[in-house]
Amino acid sequence: MTILITGASGQYGRSVTDKLIARGLARELVLLTRKPEKLADRTTVGCQVRYGDFDKPSSLAAAMQGIDRMLLISGTRVGKRVAQHKAAIDAAASAGVKQIIYTSVVGITPQNPAIVIRDHGPTEELIKASGCAWTILRDQHYADAMVVNMGPNYIRSGQWLTSTAGGREALVWREDCVESAVAVLTNAGHAGKTYNITGPELLNFGDIARMLTEVSGHEVKLVETTDEGMFAMFDAMGIPREPVDDQVVSGVPWNSNDMVSFEAAIRGGHFAIISDDVEKLTGRKPRGVRQLVEANAAMLRAAK
Ligand SMILES: NC(=O)c1ccc[n+]([C@@H]2O[C@H](COP(=O)([O-])OP(=O)(O)OC[C@H]3O[C@@H](n4cnc5c(N)ncnc54)[C@H](OP(=O)(O)O)[C@@H]3O)[C@@H](O)[C@H]2O)c1
Repeated sequence: MTILITGASGQYGRSVTDKLIARGLARELVLLTRKPEKLADRTTVGCQVRYGDFDKPSSLAAAMQGIDRMLLISGTRVGKRVAQHKAAIDAAASAGVKQIIYTSVVGITPQNPAIVIRDHGPTEELIKASGCAWTILRDQHYADAMVVNMGPNYIRSGQWLTSTAGGREALVWREDCVESAVAVLTNAGHAGKTYNITGPELLNFGDIARMLTEVSGHEVKLVETTDEGMFAMFDAMGIPREPVDDQVVSGVPWNSNDMVSFEAAIRGGHFAIISDDVEKLTGRKPRGVRQLVEANAAMLRAAK
């Protein structure tokens, strides 16, 4: 069976590739990238690396030849990804790809104000209408985003500004999302299913600020503000409002329109979703936020 992975040079893509190689599947993997030189290390272990760009549909038609399953890792241009995903889905359907596995997000409803919903909802519909078999992995908010990406910024400033007003989520380790994807990619029986990939407990940002304080030894105070206050903070950090491809500012690879709308969605309870799908798929319980904070203790202590 041949598996194509989009976004294979990214954090999620590298992790899923590592795990599939560890299972002896290197020769069955085709890795998509705009810059094949980034994945030169993969060719030495037997993976194929193919050029492909979501913005250049003709490159995708060639890249999808001979593929059984495609792991479509959602793109990074938040709010503007449907055309990119459509290009990949259309190319897969034309090339006869049998199954598309897609990394979506939990909480897709018409009422959810998070901008990411505008990408993932229509993409799920396009996949279901493609004629390919499909599996949707609806990932919760990554715990990594708040602990590893934003955590050092909160520790340095001593405060965690939020407009979530105590709203809760079951934050999940990206590794648990990846391991769930590996289970789907390497087993039968998941076609036509949608899974909620969540962590083990509903927490608010105050809970996580306390964990950061205890483990790092530096006080992180949670400070409630408005959406305007959130924009002011991200603007001061130099984070763009609109997505900019391949840009990371202060450890944060996202844009503020995305993040502020995400806070509003948490505040409205749209991401208060918890499930046992990680355990169903991987055979073990998902890891919690406290474990991720502890696993990053040295980095967090050194942040200030
Ligand atoms: N649930 C959550 O909380 C959460 C948080 C963060 C991210 N995510 C999702 O997870 C996805 C993966 O995140 P990540 O951290 O792995 O991202 P990342 O490390 O920034 O990697 C992004 C990947 O996207 C690929 N890419 C970008 N533009 C492309 C284009 N035009 N055509 C083809 N490929 C393109 C890049 O490939 P090349 O540069 O090699 O072409 C790269 O491999 C994100 O996009 C997002 O949808 C979810």
